[in-house]
Amino acid sequence: MSHDKIEVTPIAGSLGAEVRGVDLRTMDNHAWAAVHQAFLDHKVVAIRDQDLSPQDIMDVGARIGEPNHYPFVKGMDDFPFLFDVVKEPVETRNFGGGWHSDTTYMKTPPLATLLYAIETPPRGGDTLYCDMVAAYEALSPRMQEMLGTLKGINSAALKHTGGRKAHHAVIGGMKIQGTEEAESYEAVHPIVRTIAETGQKALYCSRAHTTHFEGMTEDESRPLIEWLQAHATRQEFTCRVNWKPGTITIWDNRRTMHSAINDYQGMRRHMRRLTSGPTHPV
Ligand code: SIN
Repeated sequence: MSHDKIEVTPIAGSLGAEVRGVDLRTMDNHAWAAVHQAFLDHKVVAIRDQDLSPQDIMDVGARIGEPNHYPFVKGMDDFPFLFDVVKEPVETRNFGGGWHSDTTYMKTPPLATLLYAIETPPRGGDTLYCDMVAAYEALSPRMQEMLGTLKGINSAALKHTGGRKAHHAVIGGMKIQGTEEAESYEAVHPIVRTIAETGQKALYCSRAHTTHFEGMTEDESRPLIEWLQAHATRQEFTCRVNWKPGTITIWDNRRTMHSAINDYQGMRRHMRRLTSGPTHPV
């Protein structure tokens, strides 16, 4: 498919675009360059009307980088880096609800996440995204300067959202593993990170994973972490992806947070996820 047929349509004021007119299985390097440019421009790209096998998803992910390991869900038998995100009709809790960037508690967290929709509820089940560059740029120069001196301690324990074990215990449709080791996953990263390709600065901090700032107590850190999350998720910094089977969304974990909306009780949602491109946040 020629890349001059690729249509990129922004879906909100700050971030996010829909991409149509590309077949990710058969695209050439020029077509990928157009999709990748849309990713750099919009941070979240929902690419419609795909028909992707597990190997196809791995191949798209490889264009971004090496696959990242996710410690808490067992991967597919032949594709250990790919796993299914499933909520069955009888379940009430979802996976990925609550604002976060993926696995910031790893030493080399992923550049991007690829999420492919296999089965979606007739209504609901959208995913929200927020723009951590726009949020950073809206801060006062003095606040930017101060945040630029801070490092965040990021933990997988989900201490401030009920604890990972309790959280994952109620996600019955998924192949959860290793939650008892959650506290051993911890990484220190800058609170403001710089994006290599664009030179942009982005906030890199979440209520879910950032427990405190290096050199400060949790009590001292918490109010500012809470404030940064409230600021970053202001309506004007967000977009919302509505899924259809065959949509694959690629989002930039360096410059966004996301939150899966749990508004489809009694209905099934089945997605397939890969994280790609280990990074050293600077
Ligand atoms: C996730 O946080 O990776 C899941 C997002 C979703 O299911 O929409």
